[in-house]
Amino acid sequence: MKKHMLKIVVAFSMIILMGCNKASQNELSLVSPDKNIKVEFNLSGEGEPFYQVWFNNKTVIDTSFLGFNLENAKSLKDNFKILNSSLNPFNETWQMPWGEQVNVVNNYNALKVELQEKMEPFRKLNIVFKVYNDGIGFRYEFPKQDNFSEALITEENTQFKLTEDYKTFWQAGDWDSYEHLYKTTKLSEINAFKERNKKLAKSYIPNNAVNTPVTMVGTNGVHLSFHEAALVDYSGMTLGINAKDLMLESVLVGSDNHKYKAKRDLPFNTPWRTIQIANTAPELITSKLILNLNEPNKIGDVSWFKPTKYTGIWWEMHVGKSTWDRASGRHGATTANTKHYIDFASKNNLKGVLVEGWNTGWRKEEGGFDFVTPYPDYDLKEVVRYGKEKGVDIIMHHETNSDVERYIQQQDTAFALMQSLGLHTVKTGYVGKIKPNGEYHHGQYMVNHYNNTVIKANKYQVAINAHEPIKDTGLRRTYPNTISREGLRGQEFNASWAVDGGNPPEHLPIVAFTRMLAGPIDFTPGIFHITEINGKSNYLNTTLGQQLALYVVIYSPIQMAGDLIENYEANPEPFQFIKDVGVDWQETKVLNGEVGDFVTIARKEKFTGNWFVGSITDENPRDIEINFNFLDDDQSYNAIIYKDGKDANWKDNQFAIAIEKLIITKGTKLAVHLAPGGGFAMSLKK
Ligand code: NOJ
Ligand code: CA
Repeated sequence: MKKHMLKIVVAFSMIILMGCNKASQNELSLVSPDKNIKVEFNLSGEGEPFYQVWFNNKTVIDTSFLGFNLENAKSLKDNFKILNSSLNPFNETWQMPWGEQVNVVNNYNALKVELQEKMEPFRKLNIVFKVYNDGIGFRYEFPKQDNFSEALITEENTQFKLTEDYKTFWQAGDWDSYEHLYKTTKLSEINAFKERNKKLAKSYIPNNAVNTPVTMVGTNGVHLSFHEAALVDYSGMTLGINAKDLMLESVLVGSDNHKYKAKRDLPFNTPWRTIQIANTAPELITSKLILNLNEPNKIGDVSWFKPTKYTGIWWEMHVGKSTWDRASGRHGATTANTKHYIDFASKNNLKGVLVEGWNTGWRKEEGGFDFVTPYPDYDLKEVVRYGKEKGVDIIMHHETNSDVERYIQQQDTAFALMQSLGLHTVKTGYVGKIKPNGEYHHGQYMVNHYNNTVIKANKYQVAINAHEPIKDTGLRRTYPNTISREGLRGQEFNASWAVDGGNPPEHLPIVAFTRMLAGPIDFTPGIFHITEINGKSNYLNTTLGQQLALYVVIYSPIQMAGDLIENYEANPEPFQFIKDVGVDWQETKVLNGEVGDFVTIARKEKFTGNWFVGSITDENPRDIEINFNFLDDDQSYNAIIYKDGKDANWKDNQFAIAIEKLIITKGTKLAVHLAPGGGFAMSLKK
């Protein structure tokens, strides 16, 4: 009790300290630990809750209202009074079992505002703000109360009112896909409808809205990114565009099967609505706001999962060399072919082999996917045994074709099979429209499916790498067997089947500051060759230097060497970098960058202390200087740099590369030229 009292005293003294002279009776405010960010909460004359945000004393979010529309009940949005409020400072450092870094500082001030309607039906709603040095998060809490036991939310009305027409890096608010290209326009010029009919396996864009993270750069240099954290038992949030008012407004993903978009029994909390706020683009990448807003590890030790580089029977299907099914006579997932990949992996420090097309169901007439029955030319037990002998594990593949109920029925047997074989990683896939009909990839039904899958898999010591996933909202902190995911236009869009010429050179310099803020990406880098089969070739709108740089720039605890074995064997010098590069990090430094233009990241490998650096640029060439002041004192490093060769460019000279050996010490400065669509990678070994 005493402790509680103390918090309230702190709260009110903080509020008074803020010294807001225009303070109305209801105004509550709090600041970040470094005092650069300030949030104010208030009620309008009609008792509507609203908030505002300041960064470096300038308004970045102006008056923005908060509330809900409900099915069969009055909207929950006005006539409120403040019952109580409390302020809680918090500071801890927690450890990631695997990640971009080991230690994460979680330091914020929190304000909890307890509201109640002043008239019937006297419902209660709490709003909690957490203000960090790198941004803010807030969520709604529906407390236990009489006469309000179930919320059928038809819309959440959370507003984010901007104060200028930001340059915005966005992708369409698609209820079924995160595989659109990013667009760069002014906020007021966003037109998501133009992104309809983009020949995706599934796509539904009902509103002029964007998916998150969506990132903005202001003329004043302010960098903002909007997203959500801890998306649990709720619908994914897209952000509707109100161009006239320069405002984003939440639009939840719905379902055709009922009017409400999210249904919950009280008490419950919504996901956190997040705004990362920074002076510079690199600070967006180092921000750990999304992870910090998630709950601590609930599943304990996951040392059975080891961060891994892997290869696999994958690109050969995407370039038409083999097929997933057997009818073509060119089945990829045979015992012999898998052993060939295992031999290659074991020779080259890659500890996993993904095998797609191993199980029955790839043709319609086979009656749906079966996750325990291999095709007759694939001896699952034998390849697992052979792999173990060579220190390589098979990575399982469960393509569900989005037949979700069918997958749920088989999950226990499928995960038990993996456990009996000592396999710990599965790549799942959700291509096509969701069955049950009327559900969407990012609605509450699927949010629950993706989350339940991770929880179930953990019981069998299985880690999940989902393709066509739900967006990442930092749940890897709570369930660290959530290792990686797709959820963007991956390398596969450079395959021979790609309809629009592959990912453009600006793609990854945008992804690094948008999708990557959400969490790990299974992008599958490392394409070394334009492979032509039956007159069709893959695309590659980057240089080879950039393909190597991606192993450092794009974070994932599993990184694929995506290309065909023969393309690596023909290029042993650049392939050396893939053999050497780390996958689990002690520390990460973002050395420079600007959204959509370029970025350079340095990561220190856990246990060895070796550093790796990756730098990528868009279609523009660039000269950058690296200052190695982040290296250990009194230590010299044997470095190898893999940089764009003479006349390299993304269009017609992707593979020109120059490889040099150097000795680097702390404080060395190095000038490097990046070609159009180029990049460089560097290993620094003690
Ligand atoms: C889409 C995935 O993104 C891709 O990696 C996979 O090969 C195919 N689905 C088949 O499952
Ligand atoms: Ca995909």
